[in-house]
Amino acid sequence: MTFKITLQPGRQSFPADPATNLLQAALDAELVVPYGCRDGACGACRARVVSGEVDHGRSPLATLPDAERAAGMALMCCAHARSDLVLECREVRALHDIPVRKLPCRIQALERLAPDVMRMQLRLPAGDAFLFQPGQYIDFLLADGQRRSFSIANAPQADNMLELHVRLIPDGHFTPRVFDQLKPRDILRIEGPLGSFFLREASTPEAVPPLVFLAGGTGIAPLKAIVEDLIAHGAARDIALYWGARDIAGLYLDGLAHAWQSALPGLRYIPVISDEAPDGWHGRTGLVHHAVLADLPDLSAHHVYACGSPAMIEAARADFCTRGGLAADNFHADAFTFSRPDGA
Ligand SMILES: Cc1cc2nc3c(=O)[nH]c(=O)nc-3n(C[C@H](O)[C@H](O)[C@H](O)COP(=O)(O)OP(=O)(O)OC[C@H]3O[C@@H](n4cnc5c(N)ncnc54)[C@H](O)[C@@H]3O)c2cc1C
Ligand code: FES
Repeated sequence: MTFKITLQPGRQSFPADPATNLLQAALDAELVVPYGCRDGACGACRARVVSGEVDHGRSPLATLPDAERAAGMALMCCAHARSDLVLECREVRALHDIPVRKLPCRIQALERLAPDVMRMQLRLPAGDAFLFQPGQYIDFLLADGQRRSFSIANAPQADNMLELHVRLIPDGHFTPRVFDQLKPRDILRIEGPLGSFFLREASTPEAVPPLVFLAGGTGIAPLKAIVEDLIAHGAARDIALYWGARDIAGLYLDGLAHAWQSALPGLRYIPVISDEAPDGWHGRTGLVHHAVLADLPDLSAHHVYACGSPAMIEAARADFCTRGGLAADNFHADAFTFSRPDGA
């Protein structure tokens, strides 16, 4: 049995069988709705059920509380169709030319960028270009069936290399292996590209908005990919890049981020540390999103791209949209949630 899913306001439609979650069915039809973790954790795929019946499946109450269910909301990555549906979701794009693929990759290099951050360079099979939008992520497909998500930290390049910034989770299932066991030439399997965290084109040249890029810790990775892509294309944009970390070591590519200011006209880089300022630190301190609001109290004309811990994303979204007057649709985020123990 297959149901017809219609998206509002664009009227795009796609088929969905009851066994496939609504996000996967949309992606299978090459329609990209906003999404992040594909795991019920980030809430980015929230949609309103205008008509029809859904099964909420494994939607966690923490992300989709009863009150939201009663108000007709659903998480597309967890919900399944029980009838034809009309769904309202804020943005839909077609990505016909960027297929999601599973493929092997070889570790080219591992480099410690900070005590708890490893730069991982992956080489993909030659002669078969891996296409992605700067800002997207890949999943490692682990031997036990689990998957772990990491943002691509470089712009697309001819040599089919991917750079990742992996933060160590000491009691984690996968990242300790990156620090202690994996070595160059090891083979891993990935799936990608995934996610809807990429720079939106302005509808007209006159409508190009000023941008705020907000990164927490390794959340700099997808923003690095976007900045490097803009530099490669000689694009000039008004960008205020705020990078927050607990301490100076956490700003592990601070020199590079400073250098972007001369490579990309219009980019300003503001590093922020949240611990007490050490000797010799003359920069900003405190919560990184507070630094944004201190400098830019009126965000009503801005578009924001935020990446990092779920706590940082939620605090920034709430404060920017209330105190800063940012339109909710102009807040784009990738929350670095943890995978659920039972995998995807
Ligand atoms: C779209 C996306 C992009 C990401 N990009 C990056 C990136 O570029 N760099 C980066 O460093 N990280 C990134 N992350 C986060 C990264 O995927 C997680 O940190 C990952 O789960 C770590 O894997 P692990 O196996 O080492 O830890 P895990 O085994 O996943 O465990 C992590 C921690 O969470 C706890 N935990 C696990 N499940 C639960 C649960 N259900 N309830 C409570 N606690 C739990 C564990 O005990 C442990 O402390 C991204 C995440 C997403 C969703
Ligand atoms: S909750 Fe569905 S994509 Fe994150």
